[in-house]
Amino acid sequence: MPEALRVDAGLRYETHSERLIDRLTQLYGDMPEFDYWLGELLHIAGGLHADRPAVLRRLDAQRVSDPGWFSRQQMLGYCAYVDRFGGTLRGVAARVPYLRELGVTYLHLLPFLKMRDGDNDGGFAVSSFDQVEPRLGSMGDLVSLTAQLREAGISLCADFVLNHVADDHPWAQAAAAGVPQYRDYFHTFSEQSELEVYERHLGEVFPEVAPGNFIFSPALGRWVWATFYPYQWDLNYQNPAVFAEMAAALLRLANRGVEVFRLDSAPFLWKRLGTNCLNQPEVHWILQALRALIEIVAPGVLLKAEAIVPVSEVSVYFGTRDPAHDECHLAYHSSLMAASWAALAEQRTDLLRRVIAATPTLPESASWLTYIRCHDDIVWGTLRPEAQADGLTLDQRLGAVSRFLAGTVDSSFAAGSAFQALTADAVFGTNGMAAALVGFSRARNERERTYAERRLLLLYSVAFCFGGLPLIYMGDELAQGNDESEANASLRQADGRWLQRPVFDEQRLALRHEPRSVPGRVFAGVRRLIECRRNQSALAANVSRRVVPALDPALLILARGERFVIAMNFSNDVKQVDVAIFGGGDWLDCLGNTVVNKMIKLEPWCVRWLERRS
Ligand code: GLC
Repeated sequence: MPEALRVDAGLRYETHSERLIDRLTQLYGDMPEFDYWLGELLHIAGGLHADRPAVLRRLDAQRVSDPGWFSRQQMLGYCAYVDRFGGTLRGVAARVPYLRELGVTYLHLLPFLKMRDGDNDGGFAVSSFDQVEPRLGSMGDLVSLTAQLREAGISLCADFVLNHVADDHPWAQAAAAGVPQYRDYFHTFSEQSELEVYERHLGEVFPEVAPGNFIFSPALGRWVWATFYPYQWDLNYQNPAVFAEMAAALLRLANRGVEVFRLDSAPFLWKRLGTNCLNQPEVHWILQALRALIEIVAPGVLLKAEAIVPVSEVSVYFGTRDPAHDECHLAYHSSLMAASWAALAEQRTDLLRRVIAATPTLPESASWLTYIRCHDDIVWGTLRPEAQADGLTLDQRLGAVSRFLAGTVDSSFAAGSAFQALTADAVFGTNGMAAALVGFSRARNERERTYAERRLLLLYSVAFCFGGLPLIYMGDELAQGNDESEANASLRQADGRWLQRPVFDEQRLALRHEPRSVPGRVFAGVRRLIECRRNQSALAANVSRRVVPALDPALLILARGERFVIAMNFSNDVKQVDVAIFGGGDWLDCLGNTVVNKMIKLEPWCVRWLERRS
């Protein structure tokens, strides 16, 4: 054990080092200087532990003694781009009172590290892991922001883009300059025929705007693996130096006060010929090794997997295959999100019910990240297993949903747009802010506005009640719509996802306490859900969940534990629910403050949160 770990982390080293070393041996044990490399890695980890500020060490100790801290129903996330929400990191700090007013305890700021000049995929093309993007502030600003947030009881979550770096990152530049050590940080090929063998099995993330998975770098004189945009070069984790660099970069950010890391594009980390190069076993060994390192050096920190794959494949990111192999603490439940939108468009909940049935029980101290919208498109492919259950193809089942949400169907209330659909019949993704997708932008009268409001609260009820850490996407709480600004038109043209990345609307913010305004109504509605949730221990992440069978296909009745039921009507029609189907007795309607005991009337798109009274 390195000397620096003895103080404070000795016991944790005893507990977690075996797992760390096992995983690293599986990954890199065959290389001749493995022992030396491992010694160096532990030495670096020791140094980073020695550097860890006292206040963060206290936080570590507190969380080690309370590992379920992020599963409580009081946890509430909020997600925003720094420039869109506050202009700069300091501007975000000035929003802390607003976040507190909302009840936020977890803030996910989209990429704010130094990013590539020019196109940079909204900061997902990182040029340095040790500098803040100068437009947004400095490392000093980051440290003060994390301190201010901590003081306010809010944990900062940052993206950790670990699959790729920008082509102007010093490693990529050194590779392009011909330094062999750095060329090995990337997957490069001299012959096009080599790529073609891989391509046969690979999917495409942006088939329309960035087809293929490789680009030719004239500087390098070779082909480079670039899964996403051509300027995002995939890192080569077969090279242990890449693992060591990235682990150290993560721990340095943790020492600046970042408490949660969103592991961007986690499934792509390992390439294997003849496969789709997603979710390979080595991806999990890498993440398990990272987790073990964190347990030793900075155990207050959480890892969150961004794995936009079917729910059965996501659960592996928690280490569920073998509970002894802890992996991520959190993972996005993107199937739940996509199925919620499908239910809204189809006015039937069978996909949602299937997704819930396919959701495994998680290990203790792990939780889903539940959400309605984010900065990306709604990816329909995650619903493949559920959508195909009736013998239909994904395109057949979800093509109609995607057209509905894009607003190209007459009966549609939505105003989104299709993303990356290469042909009119194919389904890929859907863009748009939640408010636009639920009908606010097309609402022409009070009834349509009311329905839009109900739909938004219905979807947020799924996210708030499912059992997980729910995330509000910036502006949803004020029913902010799509970005239609002239200033961002060219961004949207290049990448449709900018539709859901507007600048935070100050006017709506100013109206939030104005009960007759749309932002005021929605803000009050969302606040009511948040308050109600805070007081219901049945809504904590680790309480059991069960779908109560309901004959009507538009209904979703979700029970949490024995004493809480959420009854949801995903249709334009009034529905009746007999409380007998979830056991009879008296139930308090927590949102309406009335007691019900026989038939419950559910107005179109309405939800009831019911607490058993007898
Ligand atoms: C993740 C991000 C997305 C980005 C991609 C490449 O999926 O959410 O916005 O384009 O990774 O970094």
